[in-house]
Amino acid sequence: MSEPSTTPPTRRSFLSALTVLLGGAITALASIPVLGSLFSPLRAAPATGAADAPIPVGTVSEFPVGVPRRVELIRSVTDAWSRSDATTVGAAWVTRNADDTFTAFSTICPHLGCGVNLDKQRNIFACPCHTSAFGLDGKFQTGPAPRGLDPLQVEVRGKEVLIHYKRFKQGTPERETV
Ligand code: FES
Repeated sequence: MSEPSTTPPTRRSFLSALTVLLGGAITALASIPVLGSLFSPLRAAPATGAADAPIPVGTVSEFPVGVPRRVELIRSVTDAWSRSDATTVGAAWVTRNADDTFTAFSTICPHLGCGVNLDKQRNIFACPCHTSAFGLDGKFQTGPAPRGLDPLQVEVRGKEVLIHYKRFKQGTPERETV
């Protein structure tokens, strides 16, 4: 049976233990910035540019009264860990009304999704694919489209005009967001 060692620690074993202790402390200190950067997105403020944030399309004075103007809807999507570059997510026909309120419609034809154009001669929105036509108020006039153009909410903040963009299901008489 062996007896427990009663030999006092040598200088060598003391230095060994001290080295291990210091090495552990240095490793722990060095890992703090790495852990901080890994979890910092969780502490960040909520993302601006979220998928449902309104999209700025210009200032009020950039829109002539009574004439629909086509605008691209561009957004950069940001979440906790990533940020995508500016991406065109859609387009809208935006009209400034005489009382400085705004009306906007998605440019996507509710039949099969072609882009509708403004026909200035006839004062309508016209789809080039299957000749559906819509009034400037978005109402269905003729063609295979099952409903009128899809309205988009417009917000005016000070002088800035913003669109709340949504996509809608095509080919249905009811308007459903997708
Ligand atoms: S896609 Fe517009 S009428 Fe068919």
